[in-house]
Amino acid sequence: MITIFKGPQPTFMLHTKNTSYIMKVLPSGHIEHVYYGARIHLDNVDGLMEQREFAPGCTTVYNNEDKSLSLEDVCLEMSGMGKSDVREPFIELIRSDGGRTEDFLFDTYEAREGKEPIEDLPSSYGNDDEVDSLYINLIDAKYDLRLTLKYSVFEETDVITKSARITNNSDFSVRIKRIMSNQLDFMPVDMRFHTFTGAWAREMHRNDALVGEAKLVNESRSGNSSNRANPFVMLSSINTTEDAGDCYGINLIYSGNHYEAVERNAFGKIRFVSGINPSTFSWHLKSKLSFQTPESVMTFSENGFNGMSNNMHRFVREHIVRGYWKDRERPVLINSWEASYFDINENKLLRLARAAKDVGVELFVMDDGWFGRRNDDTSSLGDWTANTKKLSSGIAGISRKIHALGMDFGIWVEPEMVNVDSNLYREHPDWTIEIPGHAHSEGRNQRILDLTRGDVQEYVINAMSNVFSSGEINYVKWDMNRNFTDMYSPVLTPKQQGDVNHRYIVGLYKVMDALTKRFPEILFEGCASGGNRFDLGILSYFPQIWASDDTDAIARAEIQTGYSYGYPMSTLTAHVSDIPNHQTLRRTPLETRYHVAVLGILGYECNLTDLNGDGLKAIRQQISIYKKYRRTLQFGTFYRRSSLYDRRGFSTILPNYANDYEWTVVSEDKSEAIGVMLQTLVHPNTQYALLKPTGLIDEAIYRIEGREITYNIKELGSLVNTVSPIHVKQDGMVHNALARYITLNGEKEKHIMYGDAIMKAGIRLRPAFAGVGYNDNIRMYPDFASRLYVIKRIEPV
Ligand code: DGJ
Repeated sequence: MITIFKGPQPTFMLHTKNTSYIMKVLPSGHIEHVYYGARIHLDNVDGLMEQREFAPGCTTVYNNEDKSLSLEDVCLEMSGMGKSDVREPFIELIRSDGGRTEDFLFDTYEAREGKEPIEDLPSSYGNDDEVDSLYINLIDAKYDLRLTLKYSVFEETDVITKSARITNNSDFSVRIKRIMSNQLDFMPVDMRFHTFTGAWAREMHRNDALVGEAKLVNESRSGNSSNRANPFVMLSSINTTEDAGDCYGINLIYSGNHYEAVERNAFGKIRFVSGINPSTFSWHLKSKLSFQTPESVMTFSENGFNGMSNNMHRFVREHIVRGYWKDRERPVLINSWEASYFDINENKLLRLARAAKDVGVELFVMDDGWFGRRNDDTSSLGDWTANTKKLSSGIAGISRKIHALGMDFGIWVEPEMVNVDSNLYREHPDWTIEIPGHAHSEGRNQRILDLTRGDVQEYVINAMSNVFSSGEINYVKWDMNRNFTDMYSPVLTPKQQGDVNHRYIVGLYKVMDALTKRFPEILFEGCASGGNRFDLGILSYFPQIWASDDTDAIARAEIQTGYSYGYPMSTLTAHVSDIPNHQTLRRTPLETRYHVAVLGILGYECNLTDLNGDGLKAIRQQISIYKKYRRTLQFGTFYRRSSLYDRRGFSTILPNYANDYEWTVVSEDKSEAIGVMLQTLVHPNTQYALLKPTGLIDEAIYRIEGREITYNIKELGSLVNTVSPIHVKQDGMVHNALARYITLNGEKEKHIMYGDAIMKAGIRLRPAFAGVGYNDNIRMYPDFASRLYVIKRIEPV
């Protein structure tokens, strides 16, 4: 809801169900940012306005009409350079006369029901009942520039979005050095800035830094939104936990270089900005043209990180993800990559597919290696025709055979790339982003196609359309495996070379838009060496993203927990893979690999044809459980357990895995929930543990049942002698024979309790093993152990 106190200096109030965002035009024409936080009542804005009498010492006043207004110490909706605000600016321009001072002042506004898409870029959407929009127009009169600040208010999900559009009405060009999407100023308050950083195979590591007087910056410069620093960030009060305290979550609908900075000014006020990274951007804005920024998405909750995440998850599910798959349950897939890497052929794939079908897999995905002469990563990207030595009946043939087995068929592509060793590069050496005559920096032996060019965009759309219609294709994994270097496009003028990364991203969106519209029922999955481009821009076209190339359950527990702060489980894909794990060499139990992967879109990426009967039986059971609770697991409300995760340290490179994790996913009507617990390393002699799920109905009665685990006797090693009447030599004949016929039962956990008792008091679990031998009431809980609990609402008896 948008409410306006009208007049020459209007006050604008953007209210969502639980938040309020307030700003007011000052007599000078600047817009003071008055408040953003929990929803408040307001009949007039007086008590909330800063009462200025004099400017702070050694500051400069805006003009002589108001000797108290130093822009350096005002909370502002947007700020420029050169008029006394010395903080991070929202906008920086260089005019044709060389001038670098911005002076944008309020002109007009317009409030509307609904929301329009923003030009050239993906944006959030909603119908007229769900969203209202406000446009505030500012003018820099001397230079004939107009800046429109756009706000959209999504009442139900407690989200407000912001973007800006600058229009050059003058007769001269202007260079945009920076134009942010969001500026948020706060009155002095103690805050933490939380960012999610990492690298390949260790994405989304949460960092918590105190906002002090030195500026904190989170940014990507690799050309992608990046695994180094995701654009999703949080600001919180210093005592905020998962369940209590103030938390702001902010993200950007953008897949290129981004920038988020927070600083405290000399008087304690805090400024946050977010947008396209100015250090890798400059835009030549010609006379009479406009430039539109990406959209920033923000939410606030008083209910801790979980409260904020719940808002963000719902918003992403309802107002970012779109199309055929938006609300549809996603299939369980098998991906050929870790089973065979490049060494694939039709027989091998069909063997894997048969084994997968047999355990309940619904979608078979043929990963890299199927086209051109692609036997490793040195060649063939760009030559998108099937290698008939590997696929004798082509894509049409293999997809038909997979369908005949009763499974859907999916394919891997990397459309934005070309190998130098490819027919495409030989034919069009000028189609890549590179500096003519300069040695190119190499990444995975491939170059990036110049998507700033219309003809290259057309080529990619046509080449991919051919692939996607060459068989019965239901799913596409769209990969992207290198960072940008040597930024240069021969079709742009020297003045436009600073635009390349942004133009590339706009070009990429055009291609994605065309293909997702042309093939609306294909399930597209984004991927960039795992999570090198996990962002809301990609999610505006593709409903899900491969979260990380790291399939190790313990590493994934941290990675997926990191994603869960800003992204819902329905967007994040997770696979069970072989051990030792191909990224870490770690051996984790099959059940733990599964228990982590169920907290996302479940898939398998292992060689099922090598598994024995027990392994296959276990996987068959896993998949059938997942299917039963799939709606809840993919679309439910997700919670992290506070006291466990907040105990972690603050290391930056070394893993700071929480030792114990607990997550709960609750169905929309709260009648069903899945709880998962995971332990990294055993802490000896600590037998008691609490299961403390969240999100249930206080007065409802629930049955809690632990998923039963069985053990092979060999897992107990020589401990078998604590239950065996005769001595069993480890790995001896008797031991091996017993292992074949005897399975040991794990602990049974069954309780009936009220929701509030479960959530507030917690369930006392059976004691964990602590050096006393095996019995079936003991929770055998070694390193990397985990448990899954099903919680179902029941009627009172
Ligand atoms: C990187 C991806 O992240 C992997 O899952 C796999 O698809 C390879 N590329 C294939 O080259």
